Amino acid sequence: MGKVLVQYYSQTGHTHQMAELVAEGAARVQGIEVCLKSVAESSFHDLLWMDGIALGAPTHLGSIPWAMKKFWDEASEDVWGKIDGKFGCVFSSSGGLGGGPEITCLGLLTVLMNYGVMTFGVTDYVAQQRTLHYGAAIPGEPRTRAEKDICRRLGLRLAEWVSYYVDGLEDSHPTKVKYSRFT
Ligand SMILES: Cc1cc2nc3c(=O)[nH]c(=O)nc-3n(C[C@H](O)[C@H](O)[C@H](O)COP(=O)(O)O)c2cc1C
Repeated sequence: MGKVLVQYYSQTGHTHQMAELVAEGAARVQGIEVCLKSVAESSFHDLLWMDGIALGAPTHLGSIPWAMKKFWDEASEDVWGKIDGKFGCVFSSSGGLGGGPEITCLGLLTVLMNYGVMTFGVTDYVAQQRTLHYGAAIPGEPRTRAEKDICRRLGLRLAEWVSYYVDGLEDSHPTKVKYSRFT
């Protein structure tokens, strides 16, 4: 059974709400075990446990908040070289459009790539002009249906890759799945 960890940092709850939706999306793939944890609740053991991770943080000064970076900096001693080839994707909430959430997403992806995690973007448009090519990036909390679907789609896609590659379920490949459930 494939395992997905949704790990987040959140000061005022927006990224936490995104994380819950990402976890909800991941849970839509049958047979996937989903664990939702804040970075404060997480241990390095969680990183070894998971097959796929969705990593989320608010945008702070156009970048990753220090608390999230600290966790991953410190994890390197125990985890480095042990999570290569697992799957990863990212999400970020910012104060506003243009405030840098995609830059934060790229920063989070860079952290995962340093650990050898296989990262991905998503080509789908969940609504007109709403997509998640670098991860789920939204201003504030997820309010609209499209913003919620962006988060859910991210978790769903992660779980699909885990299901396909880890559990070996061929029908979980994204090209074989229809997404009518979101629209
Ligand atoms: C220290 C700090 C720096 C921030 N820097 C940015 C920024 O560079 N760009 C932006 O759009 N929002 C910025 N914000 C706003 C947060 O990204 C935004 O309020 C976000 O929705 C908070 O998410 P959270 O509720 O998960 O903490 C900053 C907030 C704080 C506390």
